[in-house]
Amino acid sequence: MFFTQFTLYLIAFVVLATVFAIAEAMRTRQGKYRPPSPLKLPIIGHLHLMSGYQVPYQAFTSLSKKFGSVFGLQLGYVKCVVINGQKNIREALVTKGHHFDSRPNFERYQQLFSGNKENSLAFCNWSTTQKTRRDMLKAYTFPRAFTNRFYTLEELVSSGTRSVVAALSTNTTSTKSVISRHCANIFTRHFCSKSFDVDEATFVEMVDNYDEIFYEVNQGYAADFLPFLLPFHEKNLKRVNGLTHKIRDFVLDHIIEGRFDSFDVQAEPDDYVESLIKYVKSGESPQLSWDSALFALEDIIGGHSAVANFLVKLFAFLAKEPQVQENIHKEIDRVLGTKEVSISHRTLLPYTEATIFEAIRLIASPIVPRVANRDSSINGLEIEKGTVIFLNNYDLSMSPQLWDEPEKFKPERFIREERLVKPEHFLPFGGGRRSCMGYKMVQLVSFGILGGIMQNFTIGADDTSYTVPVGSLALPKDTFTFKFVRR
Ligand code: HEM
Repeated sequence: MFFTQFTLYLIAFVVLATVFAIAEAMRTRQGKYRPPSPLKLPIIGHLHLMSGYQVPYQAFTSLSKKFGSVFGLQLGYVKCVVINGQKNIREALVTKGHHFDSRPNFERYQQLFSGNKENSLAFCNWSTTQKTRRDMLKAYTFPRAFTNRFYTLEELVSSGTRSVVAALSTNTTSTKSVISRHCANIFTRHFCSKSFDVDEATFVEMVDNYDEIFYEVNQGYAADFLPFLLPFHEKNLKRVNGLTHKIRDFVLDHIIEGRFDSFDVQAEPDDYVESLIKYVKSGESPQLSWDSALFALEDIIGGHSAVANFLVKLFAFLAKEPQVQENIHKEIDRVLGTKEVSISHRTLLPYTEATIFEAIRLIASPIVPRVANRDSSINGLEIEKGTVIFLNNYDLSMSPQLWDEPEKFKPERFIREERLVKPEHFLPFGGGRRSCMGYKMVQLVSFGILGGIMQNFTIGADDTSYTVPVGSLALPKDTFTFKFVRR
């Protein structure tokens, strides 16, 4: 009897020890410090976990509660890691920024840029060419205060804003169209010294084409992760490709015209177009072909769509927030009286600027992911070369641990002692060597146009029961409509 009981204990011990040994061996083989990951399904991996949310980044936030701040996801064929939390995101953006400076290789991106995503400023991998393109742009996208370039931009934004105010006073078309056309004109004037009649048909078509492409690149596609679905998008991709070709024709016919041939390489460039021409013609290293230079120019002109979509979202928030509008009115009236708002007044109007920050907080998302260019780690967890990295700034912007009532529109959260403050966890434009190249333009142009509109109008809507989608920027062509009521 004793012998039998002993044998049973022995067998149980051996079985348990074997199970632990196998579990441990599997853990070691998988890499002891790999980011944890939920159970996955064949083929789609974890894609199903993204459904049922307004934006997929909300799924990232709920998964982080279960799996920790750094966790792995297999989205279809694509191995991904989601990084949450300010400390981890900063490690990826700054401390190890050079490990995570590539972009995904989605077929959609390739097709949008003539079969080579390296033509794109935002979707290319890091290279000396990208560094050069960024360095060349800086002078135009980050004009320093008190320089000629800043004052010229100030005048462009002011005159653009006057036209916006005039157009909205007799608004017969959609607000988005009015704002987009005027933002496009500010961008073409600033980067290309080229001004257009905002009602002229070819120009309107160019603006509409940009807006459609902007909407398109801001959509998440299952086919990015399951390439066998691409044939279902073929027709749409062809259509969007056609739009990019029409933009190229517009740029060549109406912006470049004869400037490439006539520009003297010895001359100082007057605008971004001439900076590109000078670089290409002088054959500097790393070499940039004229074709690639044109892609960079088209990308940056396209920044106007981001600003226009952003402004329309901002108006949609404001139409629901009469108190915020009253606060802006009071600030502008108290500080400037009837003097026209301009971009130099930003520091004088902190509440107005905080309103822009608050709308940016609510639309922030990791829509432009990174890719690990080498084996690395975040927070001690291994990340393999080639992994797509989502830096979850949506969570940073919406976390109740970091913000008081984060779902509410409260510009005052950015004000301390009547000054604008930007918390360290506010990272809507990414950071490090691949940070957004257009954030200053967003802040300056939005401030000028918002200031001018608020000085003249109260923004209303027939029905304000709508919800403004958070965690996304692009709006469809037919979107919110407003009433601009003269003050
Ligand atoms: C509210 C509007 C905008 C938001 C929220 C936004 C946000 C972002 C984010 C999150 C990134 C990725 C940063 C990273 O990986 O660290 C990015 C990249 C970029 N943005 Fe923006 N952006 C906006 C407007 C603009 C505008 C107006 C322009 C052009 C004038 C622009 C040009 C770029 C470019 C060129 C990149 C790619 C930079 C690179 O990869 O080297 N953005 N943006």
